[in-house]
Amino acid sequence: MKYTITTPLYYVNDKPHLGSSYTTIACDALARFQRLKGNSVLFLTGVDEHGQKIERTAERKNLQPQLHCDEITDQYKYLWDKLNISYDRFVRTTSKEHISLVHQFYSKVVRSDDVYMGRQSGWYCVGCEEYKDVDKNDKNPICSIHKKDLEWRDEENLFFKLSKYQDAIEELIKIDGFISPESRKNEILNFVSKGLRDFSISRVNLKWGINVPGNKYHTFYVWFDALLGYVSGSLKDQDSPELTENSLINWPANIHVIGKDILRFHAVYWPAMLLSAGLKPPHAVFGHGFLTREGQKMGKSLGNVLDPIKLLEYGGIDAMRWYLLRDIEFGEDGDFQIRRFVDIVNSDLCNTIGNLLNRTITMSKKWFNDNIPVDNTLLSKSPLKIKSELKIKEYIDSFNDSNFKNSANAIIDIANNANLYLNEREPWKLIKDISNNDIVASDIYSVLESCRIIGILLYPIVPNLSIRILKQLKIDSSCISFETSLKWGLLNPSSGLEDPKPVMEKIEIGESLF
Ligand code: MSP
Repeated sequence: MKYTITTPLYYVNDKPHLGSSYTTIACDALARFQRLKGNSVLFLTGVDEHGQKIERTAERKNLQPQLHCDEITDQYKYLWDKLNISYDRFVRTTSKEHISLVHQFYSKVVRSDDVYMGRQSGWYCVGCEEYKDVDKNDKNPICSIHKKDLEWRDEENLFFKLSKYQDAIEELIKIDGFISPESRKNEILNFVSKGLRDFSISRVNLKWGINVPGNKYHTFYVWFDALLGYVSGSLKDQDSPELTENSLINWPANIHVIGKDILRFHAVYWPAMLLSAGLKPPHAVFGHGFLTREGQKMGKSLGNVLDPIKLLEYGGIDAMRWYLLRDIEFGEDGDFQIRRFVDIVNSDLCNTIGNLLNRTITMSKKWFNDNIPVDNTLLSKSPLKIKSELKIKEYIDSFNDSNFKNSANAIIDIANNANLYLNEREPWKLIKDISNNDIVASDIYSVLESCRIIGILLYPIVPNLSIRILKQLKIDSSCISFETSLKWGLLNPSSGLEDPKPVMEKIEIGESLF
């Protein structure tokens, strides 16, 4: 089956931070999970380059906007490579394919009679690139997200007839699984029930945007332009983009993963725009929570961000990916704490998993001719087999719900069970009596087999660590799949073992990291 997943297209007003890395890591885990399930995945990410926010940033830096965008885009690509993000397409909204697609899409919306000229006045947040629901008589209102002054706007804009899609959107957002998590769904149901208002899709006096055909002084509103990046990124032929559903790789997207701040755009405005252009709306939208520092959203505009590159240098890629997906409930806000980061990584990855693998390989090689023992006796009855089968199911069910935390916990449970089993069975005592040879062989095989399963299950969350674990067991990670690799007993006793090497270095708590 085909599966399309998208990250938001990130504003290039500043270099990427931990918050943007969070969404992208989560999507990468989902994309890898879907590939292991045997699906053919289109994983799309990219950058949102137009609008006033970007124009002003470039001005402050005394740079041409395009040069500024190129610079920041390179930093996103560099970070995604460092984080081993397995994206298939990287969309830039300044690319010529995208611009051409926006024009085509607009003409379809016009043909549906969904565009008219009107006047918009109200308080605007440049950080959000959005009009805010604030009384016009309010004096000096500020944006609750960006903590910056709102700006008064009163201008002629083109409007999109969102109100025409009231019934269609009401139907859509009621569908089970369209909006997750459930709490976010209620927020949108409530918003839509108050009645949808048409929204403006063009700006005047803004040069840094895509021109609106037939309207010399207008450029497209940055959100109208950016959402269409999901379409331009899905085009089969990037050289001669022509917009029909057949010209797209897999439409509609299975899931748009976004932060809760931009849920309305994705769950309401975006599906209506698609319906207007005759394209299907997405299957699902997941609005995750914010990474916070001292309770405040971590954000480029607020200047309280953690630099992912510094965190990578400090703890490494596996530590960073593991902590974000294992410790923070996806969907809820989560406060980043360095002490907790260190404790969790050291405890889970170095002690529980790393030591298990290390000590078991050492025992196996020492007692069984440098190899994996043959398990003649208890293969089908091993208590570790039964527990691991239960945990594999828990892991897969949770991943299907984007519940990374539960999936990660299921892996740790498998490792804890195996550690406990070794401690109870004490093979180092049993092996002293030669008549126990078969029992010890079976025990060691079972624990190594648990390590193999752990290695596979870790792959979507921490691919680099997973590959290192599987390599020690002489397993080619490029050949794994859930269907063919998760059956108990596939570890081949004749394949041998590498010399045990710690798969994860402990992190020492630094003096001052940030
Ligand atoms: N450009 C728009 C999205 C257009 S999508 C067609 C945008 N960009 S953004 O760079 O400001 O934010 C994108 C996303 O980054 C947020 O929705 C969220 O997914 C993620 N995050 C930004 N700050 C974050 C945190 N502090 N914590 C978690 N995620 C955060 O909005």
